[in-house]
Amino acid sequence: MVRAGILGASGMTGGELLRILASHPGVEVEWATSREYAGKPVHTAHPHLRGFYTGLKYTSIDNIDVGEVDVVFNALPHGVGASIVAEAYENGVRVVDLSADYRLRDQSLYPKLYGFKHPRPDLLDEAIYALPEIYGEKLRGARLAAVPGCNATAAILAAAPLVASKIIDMDVGIIVDVKAASSEAGSKPSRHSIHPLREGSARPYTPWGHRHAAEAIQVLRDLAGRGVRLSLVPHAVSMARGVLASAHALLRDNIGFSEAVRAYASFYKNSPMVRVKPMAPGLPVDPPDVKNVIGSMFAEVGFAVEEESGRITGFAAIDNLVRGAAGQAVYAMNAMLGFDEWEGLRSPPLRP
Ligand SMILES: NC(=O)c1ccc[n+]([C@@H]2O[C@H](COP(=O)([O-])OP(=O)(O)OC[C@H]3O[C@@H](n4cnc5c(N)ncnc54)[C@H](OP(=O)(O)O)[C@@H]3O)[C@@H](O)[C@H]2O)c1
Repeated sequence: MVRAGILGASGMTGGELLRILASHPGVEVEWATSREYAGKPVHTAHPHLRGFYTGLKYTSIDNIDVGEVDVVFNALPHGVGASIVAEAYENGVRVVDLSADYRLRDQSLYPKLYGFKHPRPDLLDEAIYALPEIYGEKLRGARLAAVPGCNATAAILAAAPLVASKIIDMDVGIIVDVKAASSEAGSKPSRHSIHPLREGSARPYTPWGHRHAAEAIQVLRDLAGRGVRLSLVPHAVSMARGVLASAHALLRDNIGFSEAVRAYASFYKNSPMVRVKPMAPGLPVDPPDVKNVIGSMFAEVGFAVEEESGRITGFAAIDNLVRGAAGQAVYAMNAMLGFDEWEGLRSPPLRP
């Protein structure tokens, strides 16, 4: 049995990790940290998990021994766990980091985007970006995985086939419009994220260069083998879970819907958790929808071509807490430790 420790287990993504791992046959959670709930049962922060993890109580982050487990999940706010992650790595423990701390290879981006100087830039190249459809092979046996951001996951899944197939004008680039759920903001509400100001609202945030654009560019650059121009503008909308990304680009001359069909079908041909949905007049109305993926690893990826303007839009709908966080983290752990990659992750989505 693999022993796991979770840093930040009282939060949104920590709760999802506990939920998914509760039905994983090969993993036992040895410790789970929280400052607020230290010494209290896990269900005090996550009442839906009462009856699972009987006897497991939160541990203060000051009292953990990272060397005591086989795998550490870091679900702390960015910057907080970077040194603990490095310590675990040095101890030979596998680490799956859900924060942004090991996602970017370029250390100079951390002060600019996250406000801290990276304590272990030497490990940035060691971390494998845990997006199954692109880096799944590299995750096998890896020691450090950086779980993609939720908006970045949706943006990349929507845009990757456009870039990999070279059907778009790369000099014009890609504009990604993201609709994001309130659980993205974590479990501690800020003045603007409280329910009365979020419910029934829709508004853009950080439209001048969102942090997740940097990761999306890093990945799409790997696929394109050249520089990528991409803007990502998230919008806070009235839903508790889910991300919908719409990636707009211009097609190259003489490229149309049939080339797009080939691009998406070929990119996702070996991807059991991606549903590809072409959208065009005459086809059944079945758009990518967050309602179809909630609680699961599924991503619904679609695309549409507007012949008159030469525009193509790729879409991706995911659950930010499963596909965009804890689910990809468990996928990474499975691959790193030699489990079947989809172990614990095959649950069908909820609907409605
Ligand atoms: N929410 C999402 O959709 C999402 C998706 C992808 C990635 N992520 C990333 O995942 C990480 C966790 O996000 P979340 O939404 O789960 O956040 P969250 O709900 O705010 O949870 C944060 C956790 O960290 C603990 N914590 C906070 N500050 C701490 C500190 N200074 N020292 C020790 N423990 C601390 C909190 O527990 P105590 O306060 O009780 O200690 C809690 O368990 C973040 O890096 C986030 O960017 C989030």
